[in-house]
Amino acid sequence: MCPSSVPRRRTLVGLGGGVMSGDIAARFSLGPAAWGPMHPCMAGQRKYALTATLMHGYTDGAMQAAVYERYGSPQTLELREVPRPEPGPNEVLVKTQATTVTLVDTAFRSGRPWMARLFTGLLRPKNQILGTEFAGRVEAVGSEVDRFEVGDVVFGASDQGFGTHAEYVCVAQTGALAIKPSNITVGEAAAVSNGALTALPFLRDHAKLRPGQKILIIGASGSIGTCAVQLAKHFGAHVTGVCSTANVELVKSLGADRVIDYTKDDFTQGDEVYDVVFDTVGKSSFSRSKGVLTPRGIYMTTVISIGILIQTAWTSMFGGKKSVFAATGLRSTVDKNADLLVLKELIEAGTLRTIIDSHYSLGQIADAHRYVDTERKKGNVIIAIPNAA
Ligand SMILES: NC(=O)c1ccc[n+]([C@@H]2O[C@H](COP(=O)([O-])OP(=O)(O)OC[C@H]3O[C@@H](n4cnc5c(N)ncnc54)[C@H](OP(=O)(O)O)[C@@H]3O)[C@@H](O)[C@H]2O)c1
Repeated sequence: MCPSSVPRRRTLVGLGGGVMSGDIAARFSLGPAAWGPMHPCMAGQRKYALTATLMHGYTDGAMQAAVYERYGSPQTLELREVPRPEPGPNEVLVKTQATTVTLVDTAFRSGRPWMARLFTGLLRPKNQILGTEFAGRVEAVGSEVDRFEVGDVVFGASDQGFGTHAEYVCVAQTGALAIKPSNITVGEAAAVSNGALTALPFLRDHAKLRPGQKILIIGASGSIGTCAVQLAKHFGAHVTGVCSTANVELVKSLGADRVIDYTKDDFTQGDEVYDVVFDTVGKSSFSRSKGVLTPRGIYMTTVISIGILIQTAWTSMFGGKKSVFAATGLRSTVDKNADLLVLKELIEAGTLRTIIDSHYSLGQIADAHRYVDTERKKGNVIIAIPNAA
């Protein structure tokens, strides 16, 4: 299913015939596919087509979700009842207990930067439910699911990168999904994927960070930055974080060896040179950072621009200083699954923790967007959905 696309017409999902036997339901559901054209995002996805799915622990119904139909301010978000998704044979239906609002959500809501619309829809959003990460309880499993059971408390990221701002989400069992570490709350678990699942491949695969190397992390107090500082320390690097005065103590508490307060000092003006400059918030540039890179140093950024794409392609062809942009969303679900398991181990070992700035309810999601829009959050903003019906 495409949980983030809200069918414009009423679906028969939930009205399909079902034969209940104990906690097993053999369920036949009829959706928009039988009535006419589907939303493009649903094409080929069987949960809205005529299906017969064997599931365990299934209950019929709709769900609440934060929906937006046009790009704009947080006011475009509306809490609405939509059809509850149904898991395919290899999927798990998760009752969301916590999710987050990130800069990815606010960018996709506003349709800015414009380049993002190449993926989200030129004039209107293709996917109408935002939200990339979650933690919650497995409510039902598809007939071929063998890694998870009803009742498991899990965390992860949605397969499509959308759709978690809702009471339920469907995720492939082979996707970015794992049993929640027992030593953290569901709120903390919900906030792992945007930050750590992004920071890990940048540091390990692109920077190939080694013990003793020096790394500068710009945006060290954000969602990606707070994880990057801890992971870089885990890899044995000497870490310098860049943040404003208010966040200096936080960044030090994450293990940074040194912190540059950008309201007082400019990192490009110091004597220090770095093997890696990792800009997690897109506030610098390769050309500005070149002077503080070692001769074979790497500049990495999470934020896409035409310039960084050209520099990434250009510097990949030559020796010397490199520029790298990468997108977690383009990684395979298999890779993301493996990384989530690595992160789970680090969390259980006490090596990695997620930083929570504040909590909102699903009904307060517009306020959460307003706050994230300020670009001042520390770590993560959680949406708690404690009483998903
Ligand atoms: N490429 C990918 O795969 C990928 C994946 C996920 C997200 N992203 C992108 O990555 C970016 C960052 O995401 P995020 O969730 O980590 O952001 P975030 O948590 O919202 O970042 C907020 C932090 O940014 C800091 N900040 C703001 N201006 C700064 C500046 N001039 N210098 C240093 N720090 C500054 C703030 O600290 P102060 O208050 O101290 O300034 C604040 O703590 C977003 O643009 C997002 O779209 C990319």
